[in-house]
Amino acid sequence: MKDKMKIAVIASGRGSNFRALAEATLDEGYPAEIALLISDNPEAGALEYARDNGIESALIDCGPKRGSMSLESSEEMHRLCVEREVGLVCLAGFMRIVKGKLLVEYAGRMLNIHPALLPSFKGLHGQKQALDYGVTWSGCTVHFVDAGIDTGPIIIQKVVPVLGDDDEDTLSERILAEEHTAYPEAVRLYAAGRLKIEGRRVLISDE
Ligand code: GAR
Repeated sequence: MKDKMKIAVIASGRGSNFRALAEATLDEGYPAEIALLISDNPEAGALEYARDNGIESALIDCGPKRGSMSLESSEEMHRLCVEREVGLVCLAGFMRIVKGKLLVEYAGRMLNIHPALLPSFKGLHGQKQALDYGVTWSGCTVHFVDAGIDTGPIIIQKVVPVLGDDDEDTLSERILAEEHTAYPEAVRLYAAGRLKIEGRRVLISDE
């Protein structure tokens, strides 16, 4: 059997997407395994899940600037990933813009999940932005990470209706359920070598 691709997940909070990825890797036929969980937040649920489930984790101070990371922390993350032969980095609720060495060296090998149908409602609180705008459909997007904010080529989108009585919490919950299938599916496609970026488009080849 081919070696599984090693992935690193970077998460700042609750960690439900990290958990969905970790659970997917339990399937013997899944082509990726989690080598490392990285967080910038000592309180992150993701860290607790990693510790409880025997997944190696690292807490990295990304600096005081909200939404941004220090170049040193980027270098440190890159070093940890290279040491573990990580082939794919997955941002899963990492609430800072990735820059520096990690971004450059993992170009084309880094994914993110966003809780809206890109290119609409980029940045923070995608669900609330969608509600406030009045759209009747929203969803989630898994995409490659580039130097912009939520601008990289799109791999998978899942759509959910926005209901008349939705608030941010109910809409977020409906979207999150789709995130938990979209992300493991995108990682599976990547790890199986089935994704090819052509300009802005991501082509998915047959099995
Ligand atoms: C998810 O909804 C994810 O799409 C979002 O943060 C949440 C993390 O939840 N990411 C962003 O908004 C990135 N801009 P989780 O910690 O339970 O996976």
